[in-house]
Amino acid sequence: MDTPQGVAVTTGNRPLLNFSSNDYLGLAAHPLVVETMIAAVEKYGAGSGASRLVCGTLAPHSELEETLAIIKGTEAALSFSSGHAAAMGTLGAVLRPGDMALVDRLSHACLIDGARASGATVRSFRHNDLAQLEERLVWAAARLPATGRTLVITEGIFSMDGDRAPLQAMADLTRRYRSLLLVDEAHSFGLCGPQGRGLAAACGVTDGVDLHLGTLSKAVGLAGGYVAASRAAIDLIINRARSFIYSTAPPPALAATATFVLREIFEGPLGGVLRDRLWTNVRQLGGALPGREASDEPTSAILPLILGSEEAALHAAGVLQEAGFLVPAIRPPTVPRGQSRLRLTLSAAHTSNQIDSFISALQTLGPAIGRAHT
Ligand SMILES: Cc1ncc(COP(=O)(O)O)c(C=O)c1O
Repeated sequence: MDTPQGVAVTTGNRPLLNFSSNDYLGLAAHPLVVETMIAAVEKYGAGSGASRLVCGTLAPHSELEETLAIIKGTEAALSFSSGHAAAMGTLGAVLRPGDMALVDRLSHACLIDGARASGATVRSFRHNDLAQLEERLVWAAARLPATGRTLVITEGIFSMDGDRAPLQAMADLTRRYRSLLLVDEAHSFGLCGPQGRGLAAACGVTDGVDLHLGTLSKAVGLAGGYVAASRAAIDLIINRARSFIYSTAPPPALAATATFVLREIFEGPLGGVLRDRLWTNVRQLGGALPGREASDEPTSAILPLILGSEEAALHAAGVLQEAGFLVPAIRPPTVPRGQSRLRLTLSAAHTSNQIDSFISALQTLGPAIGRAHT
């Protein structure tokens, strides 16, 4: 794209309306955010010069982590250069060979890769299937060495399906089997729960989640990842997470801007206004899709249209692009075989007219849309 991230973008001089970004609150190029980042670069410079544990920790990094811990309701937090690095680093730090990692099958690649790379024994369970999770917990308990731990891993809102994990029941189960729970809130942080604190807060299970993972690259509109947890867990991760220790600290101006945005969207009035707009937009588009009603309570800003074959998804994406809409096809291995899709996402920055014109374009797909959600 030749333009900043946003709803109205241009690729090769061709204007397109974007319905595929994770910039859910429209903050990636928001004037307030841009202004803040320019001022922060002037104050702190462009780069950080070293890894965090050498001399790369500048005041904005610490301030960001204090802010994250307050928002997440945990004793401490640690920031990383990306959500991917946060997942890889955290899983590599808390899991050891002999430990058990039980992962929801539809979890993001970084959760699966992080669990595998840790050397722990990894077992998946069917998506959101509590009965199978319990079977796996029983299985793990029977094999776990005396000093080992079992970690249950899930997303809060699933990135490709937009549905929610049953966090209350998962927290109960993990407690009952004396295991730990990690929730990746990449697609719920800033959006769900009181002041957008995330799905764990929405479900009232902040304390039932041991490791709160998230990213600053989606609703927050920037880049960077975090893990929020007990002081002891964060100290362990600081000392063991290789993606934290052996990587140059993110630009301090980025951390300073993230703190600004977090305060705006969690404490200031802007967050509430943008979330209201986003949910209104989700209702408008959702109401026009098969199997949904405009009165449905939105679960997320992600509306998948599952089309089946890769060809069907590519064809639909091509038709939409011709009509002026950017919605790339999502195909295996990102989603299971036979479930290629258009992953429609909404932003607070979409206007009602833009959504209406997108709905008209979707209707031209006819039978493809008719097959969705079967
Ligand atoms: C569920 C989930 N976790 C982690 C990530 C990685 O975050 P980041 O893009 O900040 O590296 C993503 C998205 O890319 C995601 O969807």
